[in-house]
Amino acid sequence: MKLSFKKSLITLLCLGVSASAFAQSSQLTKPEQLIKVRQSLFQTIGWNCTRIRQNLDKEYNKTEVIKSAEVIATLANSALDVLFAPGTATGKGWKDTAVKPEFFSKPEHSAQLLHQFRKEANTLAELVQTGSAEIVRPQFENLVKTCKACHDDFRNN
Ligand code: HEC
Repeated sequence: MKLSFKKSLITLLCLGVSASAFAQSSQLTKPEQLIKVRQSLFQTIGWNCTRIRQNLDKEYNKTEVIKSAEVIATLANSALDVLFAPGTATGKGWKDTAVKPEFFSKPEHSAQLLHQFRKEANTLAELVQTGSAEIVRPQFENLVKTCKACHDDFRNN
């Protein structure tokens, strides 16, 4: 009797936890939420690029550059593609999405640009560990080219 009471209590608790986890996760996969995360993620990437640029333009602080390059690589390697789920071609996150419909209608091309972006971000993250400003600069420019390539094709500027 006691045991089965315990069991049902545990079952109820588990149900409660999974129900609230489900409520949260379905909240998180709503298109407007995904667009919000997408915009925040790109803002964070942009902010860290600005930090690296400032270091390259003024006094080079290797530790600061490593931090930013690691953030960019981590975000590039995260499930970025999930943030472009169906249903997120239009709508409002923090503001109206700037993604172009072509991002979704030309999946091979967008996947290729994402892949190139990841590749350059990872190379940069490795290089900053040992490299001086002179060595880091060209790789940083390689990375920035991948931002521009995707924005030119897939973002309303
Ligand atoms: C594969 C395509 C792609 C790549 C690569 C890419 N972006 Fe973007 N970026 C986008 C799209 C699409 C948006 C619009 C997102 C939205 O509004 O839903 C965007 C938005 C932004 C924004 C505006 C965020 C906001 O809503 O305020 C910034 C800043 C930005 N990107 C910076 C960068 C930087 C810096 C890089 C490279 C280090 C980069 N992006 C690489 C596609 C890309």
